[in-house]
Amino acid sequence: MPVVPLRDQQCPCEVGGAPGRLRVCDLAGEGKVLVVKHDGKVSALGTKCSHYGAPLEKGVVANGRVRCPWHGACFSLATGDIEDFPGLDGVPCYQAVVEADGGVRVRARRADLQANKCSQQLAGRKEDGQDVILVLGGGGAGASCVEAVRKSGFTGRLVLATREKHLPYDRPKLSKALDMDAEKLRLRTPEFYKAADIEVLTEHEAESISAEEKKVRFTNGTEIGYTALVVATGSRPRTLDCPGSDLANICVLRSPDDGNAIAGLIPGQNVVIVGTSFIGMEAASYCVGKASSVTVVGPGDVPFARSLGTEIGAMLQGLHEEKGVVVKNGLNVTEFKAGEDGKLAQVVLSDGTELPADVCLLGVGAIPCTEVLKGVVDLDERGYCRGR
Ligand SMILES: Cc1cc2nc3c(=O)[nH]c(=O)nc-3n(C[C@H](O)[C@H](O)[C@H](O)COP(=O)(O)OP(=O)(O)OC[C@H]3O[C@@H](n4cnc5c(N)ncnc54)[C@H](O)[C@@H]3O)c2cc1C
Ligand code: FES
Repeated sequence: MPVVPLRDQQCPCEVGGAPGRLRVCDLAGEGKVLVVKHDGKVSALGTKCSHYGAPLEKGVVANGRVRCPWHGACFSLATGDIEDFPGLDGVPCYQAVVEADGGVRVRARRADLQANKCSQQLAGRKEDGQDVILVLGGGGAGASCVEAVRKSGFTGRLVLATREKHLPYDRPKLSKALDMDAEKLRLRTPEFYKAADIEVLTEHEAESISAEEKKVRFTNGTEIGYTALVVATGSRPRTLDCPGSDLANICVLRSPDDGNAIAGLIPGQNVVIVGTSFIGMEAASYCVGKASSVTVVGPGDVPFARSLGTEIGAMLQGLHEEKGVVVKNGLNVTEFKAGEDGKLAQVVLSDGTELPADVCLLGVGAIPCTEVLKGVVDLDERGYCRGR
């Protein structure tokens, strides 16, 4: 293994001033580091988020962590470890010492400066490791969970079982790039899981759990016994219960297959999107310019009203309208009408408007996938776990 030389350079910045201050410093042309002063301590980290490379310099520092400005991943200022999804890798953490003159001396490996990303070593399975940890659900939570379990040193059998046909992927990316294929969205490669002895069982839908026998039964007839079980089955899209809601070309967006199918349907078509929160508005941004028309319908006074408030919602509505999206606020869908070919032709709104529609995307919320927990955990009528 080559010996990687260490750099030892005086950082040209003075890290005084406001707490939580972030500054990118150049290490004599060898690379850049993010120097942060927070809570009286100085840290030096990689400059880019390990998720999609956002500049952490523009992030927010609080509670010993820097939060990425793009999608909110959090990195520990003390270690560079990732502490909040999305993203699975940490960023390099360098040795930083404040000199008598207030300058900061940073010591960094060249390889870390170049990689700007830091994967923690995962333990593998040991032959005598008898315990089995079974994680149900291959979303972000399940994927992070199996890695955290291996990182913590667990050496037993570790299984991630998901009903999807894909390895865990970056679901939030779907509404920004509907045409992206599942492989490009993968959080980890098959080789990664193999190296960490994590068994990923795709197309394994859990049907029932026997807490007494510590066993999960899958719809394909197989069973897996466990020592500890993690249920991370997330949610599925809500649909609308109104006449015509089962017509062809009324879609939801949850998987790469959904996204790819919608991307294939929209060119040159009239697209109606129901829901003016993140999925609806992001999908509208994707569709505009590709579809013949894009109309977004929602019940609020402005898009994003509940999540971002009316002021920011109105501003974002304006940005979408500038690009050609038609936004219809304060309205619901009452009916979907078919054309002569039996496919969707019109979306009828609560004020009687009939919007021409070849494709309709529903972005109207999600329902918890907790059926498998029935009889095991106390669920309310909507499928949420009741508080204990
Ligand atoms: C299009 C889209 C865009 C989004 N954009 C953003 C964003 O920009 N920012 C953001 O913060 N959030 C975003 N979200 C929300 C985010 O994706 C979710 O909060 C996140 O996916 C939740 O992760 P999870 O692992 O808990 O659940 P999920 O991602 O729902 O994963 C659950 C997994 O469990 C599997 N499963 C379900 N039932 C079973 C069963 N019985 N047996 C086996 N497997 C089962 C599912 O197939 C799935 O793989 C977006 C969501 C969507 C759909
Ligand atoms: S780029 Fe940082 S969280 Fe996505």
